[in-house]
Amino acid sequence: MPQLSDQAISREGWGSRLGFMLASVGSAVGLGNMWRFPYATSEHGGAAFVFLYIVMVFAMGIPLMGCEFVVGRHTKLSPVGALRTLGGRHWAIVGHLFVLVGFCILAYYSVITGWTLRYAIEALTIGLPADPAAHFDQVATGHDALAFHLLSMTVMIAVVAGGVRSGIERTSFILMPALFILIIGLAIWAFTLDGAAAGYSFYLKTDFGKLFSLKVLVAAAGQAFFSLSLGMGAMLTYASYLSRKENLPVAAVTISTADFLVAFIAGLVVFPIIFAFDLSGEISESTLGALFIGLPKAFAAMGNAGRFVAFMFFATLLVGALTSGISLLEVVTASAMDGKHHAARKKAALFMGAIIALVGAPCAYDLEILAIFDQVVGNVLLASGALALAFLVGWKMKNPTEEIAHGFEGPSWMLKGWHLTLRFVVPPVLILVLYQSIQDTWVVVGGMLSN
Ligand code: TRP
Repeated sequence: MPQLSDQAISREGWGSRLGFMLASVGSAVGLGNMWRFPYATSEHGGAAFVFLYIVMVFAMGIPLMGCEFVVGRHTKLSPVGALRTLGGRHWAIVGHLFVLVGFCILAYYSVITGWTLRYAIEALTIGLPADPAAHFDQVATGHDALAFHLLSMTVMIAVVAGGVRSGIERTSFILMPALFILIIGLAIWAFTLDGAAAGYSFYLKTDFGKLFSLKVLVAAAGQAFFSLSLGMGAMLTYASYLSRKENLPVAAVTISTADFLVAFIAGLVVFPIIFAFDLSGEISESTLGALFIGLPKAFAAMGNAGRFVAFMFFATLLVGALTSGISLLEVVTASAMDGKHHAARKKAALFMGAIIALVGAPCAYDLEILAIFDQVVGNVLLASGALALAFLVGWKMKNPTEEIAHGFEGPSWMLKGWHLTLRFVVPPVLILVLYQSIQDTWVVVGGMLSN
């Protein structure tokens, strides 16, 4: 018997490989897939963007996910302890930053999850609003938004408090297959709409010039690691519950592919609807509002069938958002459990969840605050975190290829290639992404403050 520390012995683990995969896909698939991806594709050159996105997933996303997996499984700790173990005291600070980023993402992510929850419930119970724009105003900010934000936090707390196996894994086993069935059903239905062809051609209209645009490349890279939940230790934490038998490279490729497919299919749902009801004006703004105003308009125009489809659509979005939120809360909860005070899981989930709910409250009252959170935390800090991880594993960790080799059955040149990619490809691209997103943030935040 190898010697294990007390913590490693008592640490929970996934019940099955499929459970881990479904939970990780659940973390990756979220609002980023259902709205950000289709929108970015139509904006940045259609199929050309899809192509660049796939390249970026392979060149950046999968290697970075491998990084998080290696760090998590090797140390069997959440971010703070994991980075301290590998990099020393100073890296623990980066780990704390990761937890803080998870904290802040969840604070506003849960507000949006609350909107989704409300839309799904209303489609089922009272039907669609006569004036979607006015309705969105009412849902998105104020006491109503706060109430549903608290409700969605409560659901996430309940799941995380239940534990890795009987909370997160069990929930993913039910919710993720439901999500796949729902989104495929929606895509088939959208295919039958009159506007389908026009929608597809708008979505995937190819502008080959964009293939060589730095801006588009940076957008594709940024989208790839946001969508794959990279840069703040979510995948790291999930991997800390894995055994050495797991084939990490295969897991990373499978999770990334599933995430891409859901995003791609979401576009096949959204654009036919928009074109069938001539709502292309609605998507000229990239705000989440278009998702919560434009689409409900279309659903309302369809009568009772629209209600049913609206419920399916928002339920899909809700499942994606909840399972992503759960992974964020798990990072924060696991950190409290691994920390000095060794908090018990239930207490940690409840206490941390309550503070996050509080921090998110301002976002429920002001959309500009929400947008600033998203811009600063969701873009700049995630890119910085990803860069730090690539550096740690690429340059500082001793023999990362040895850890990733456990459970891997392919040729060893692949692992060497991964290490070289982490050293020489990922950091420069991330620096470009960071440069671009700091500039964007400057514009967005500057614009808001001067208003
Ligand atoms: N991947 C999620 C989405 O596409 C959002 C996200 C970004 C995320 N970073 C994360 C989720 C970290 C969990 C953990 O919506």
